[in-house]
Amino acid sequence: MIDAIGKIAILKFKEGISSKEKKKIALNLLKTQSNIKTVLEKAEKVKGRLRTIKTKYLAGEKTKETIYKESGCLFKLNTDSCYFSPRLSGERLEIASKIKKGKVLVLFAGVGPFSIIIAKKNPQVKVTSVELGKECCKYAKENVILNRLNNIRVIPGDVKKVLPKLKEKFDYIVMPRPQLKDTFLEDALKVSKKNTIIFYYDFSSNPEEILEKIKNKRLKVLSIKKAGNIAPYKYRWRLDLKVI
Ligand SMILES: C[S@@+](CC[C@H](N)C(=O)[O-])C[C@H]1O[C@@H](n2cnc3c(N)ncnc32)[C@H](O)[C@@H]1O
Repeated sequence: MIDAIGKIAILKFKEGISSKEKKKIALNLLKTQSNIKTVLEKAEKVKGRLRTIKTKYLAGEKTKETIYKESGCLFKLNTDSCYFSPRLSGERLEIASKIKKGKVLVLFAGVGPFSIIIAKKNPQVKVTSVELGKECCKYAKENVILNRLNNIRVIPGDVKKVLPKLKEKFDYIVMPRPQLKDTFLEDALKVSKKNTIIFYYDFSSNPEEILEKIKNKRLKVLSIKKAGNIAPYKYRWRLDLKVI
């Protein structure tokens, strides 16, 4: 399996492939794909609160920093210190098209892909981007400048500590949650008002389990959609919720 993030390709091998074979595959990739300059191997699964991965160098330029282009926006990031999935590009664009005006809060914002695409496609909105990882925030701030945007503020910190300090209520809240037990919906509700739309992501084999978990008398479920596979029979779901 290959994930290409800018000039870096990240390969995931099946068990039993020798180092020599891996190197050969990596060198072949460099030869055949002129846009790829570095080949890394995914050495560990996505882990911890920061949802980072460990990669091992295989071939090409020795770097883990890359610039990735998506929907006309640029994202600089380090593949090991920041979560980034090119597979969410369709989701980011779809959410950006659903947002029209007002104040948008993006939680778990990483290096800013949701925040930046929303802000770029909707210059009239004001985006607040909250992320725990220091490195991700450093890149998110750089990415705001790289994309010449002046309608985003990046707030580093834990959603649980940052949200109680925010004075305003938001029209839209985007929650590309990490795979953790906490739904963070109680926190999001504190900065929402009547008619706020929450784009909530969760993981399960079936949507019923999620519906049960998020039951709340202030939330109306507008729609549920499958937003990708994360393992055999385990899916990412997006629920569009309205605060009533
Ligand atoms: C699944 S990633 C999504 C990143 C980004 N939105 C994207 O699409 O590339 C989840 C992100 O949430 C961050 N995170 C985890 N717990 C957090 C918390 N309590 N407060 C703020 N950010 C948190 C992680 O560091 C990680 O960058």
